[in-house]
Amino acid sequence: MEVQLADGRIIPVESHRIKIVQPTKFLPIDERLTAIRNAGFNTFLLQNHDIFLDMLTDSGTNAMSDTQQSAMLRSDDAYAGSESFIRLQEAVKDIFRMDYVIPAHQGRACEHLLTKVFVKPGDVVITNYHFTTTKAHIVNNGGQVIELIYKEGRNTNSDNPFKGNMDLETLERVIAEKGADKISFVRMEATTNLIGGQPFSMENLKAVSEIAHKNHLLLVIDCSLISENAFFIKTREAGFSEKSIPEIIQEMLQQADLIYMSGRKSTMARGGMICTNNEKIYHEILPLVPVFEGFITYGGMSTKEIEAMAVGLREMVDFNVAGSGAEMINFFTNRLINLGVPVVTPPGGLGCHVDAIKFLPHLSQTEYPAGALAAAFYIVSGCRGMERGTLSMDRDENGKEEVSDMELMRLAVPRRSFTMSQIEFAADRLAWLYQHRNLVHGLKWIEEPPVLRFFLGKLTSVDGWENSLTEAIKSDSRMN
Ligand code: F0G
Repeated sequence: MEVQLADGRIIPVESHRIKIVQPTKFLPIDERLTAIRNAGFNTFLLQNHDIFLDMLTDSGTNAMSDTQQSAMLRSDDAYAGSESFIRLQEAVKDIFRMDYVIPAHQGRACEHLLTKVFVKPGDVVITNYHFTTTKAHIVNNGGQVIELIYKEGRNTNSDNPFKGNMDLETLERVIAEKGADKISFVRMEATTNLIGGQPFSMENLKAVSEIAHKNHLLLVIDCSLISENAFFIKTREAGFSEKSIPEIIQEMLQQADLIYMSGRKSTMARGGMICTNNEKIYHEILPLVPVFEGFITYGGMSTKEIEAMAVGLREMVDFNVAGSGAEMINFFTNRLINLGVPVVTPPGGLGCHVDAIKFLPHLSQTEYPAGALAAAFYIVSGCRGMERGTLSMDRDENGKEEVSDMELMRLAVPRRSFTMSQIEFAADRLAWLYQHRNLVHGLKWIEEPPVLRFFLGKLTSVDGWENSLTEAIKSDSRMN
């Protein structure tokens, strides 16, 4: 819930009590330096005990409710016919109005099943914007991704409320050029992750749906952050302020032939599922579940997580819960704007996104500015962010770098997990780093995996710049 204070400030006020906490430690500067070196300057390889505030991701790190926790206790571990799965089916029916549920252990497992059924070598998937794991599965099946994000989506700074919209004219043209028989499906990602958690509008979704269906193409929605996208439609799109989040979600999903989601985000649990009202599609995908995931009533998930996801589905549509991440992100983003730090605007879902090209204009994209910034920010603050730029792309089949549209350091804000003072701390330390930005130089590879290299790859600094950064921190008494 956002409130305005007497001094005019608008702040997020939490609509929950904190009942369970986990201590975190702020390591001394020399230990932070050792930790990032040991991690190959890759924040994925830091150990949690070395981290003060973990802003790597909102995936599986959201605070659960007491109702979710208590539901986990009643989970039914039957291999087949689990009661927990029936409760998930009921929640899907009530919230999504969808009859068929295919469980899978997380979002990328859904993508694996979907692409195995629908993507043939030489096929194309049209999407508003790709996500790393989605693209990896499509390419793995011999397919290709075509991104048709509306041009405004590639601007880091904009006041366009729906930068996740698809470009409709190009959609019509690409379908005509490629031929519908070569297109596996059209995919809309609800708040486009890699360009700053930016939502699409209902108007755009309906138009995409009309074009896809006119051409007999399937429309798939990646619903990993569906309640956030619905929150933005309610708060930003004309005509939706009086509609409830469930009503908006149902209107969105009516446009789709099938949807899938990571259960680790909006539903604040861990797991994944594909849902549809199309019986034929259901029966095409279902036989793959026992082969790759597990029996069709658990799909590789713990039944505890199935219970948590079923409750999470019902809870995520509460207006205060749907906005719990977005409002904190709005606060964080505006704080950084006031401090002069370049960030993606407007604020989106998932996290606050720092524009590394503007933050470190002296670096080229092949020196990995977003990766260097994430490493430097850890050294400065003990906070862990994530590179979302050229490092998160893989090289093409000839080994050439594919530079990313944007170089972002993502500071994820898991729902209900950070307080405002922690956000203030992160913003303050980032502003300090911005003032000392010339001390941060590039990164180069030590070990570079061929696929999804950002997860496990190891790098080092091009010239030992972390030493001068550390000296600057040590010489500022406020920073230790
Ligand atoms: N689709 C979207 C839009 C996602 O953001 C993610 C995961 C997935 C699919 C894959 O789901 O992780 O459950 O297998 N995003 C995480 C992140 C990894 O940190 O943004 P998963």
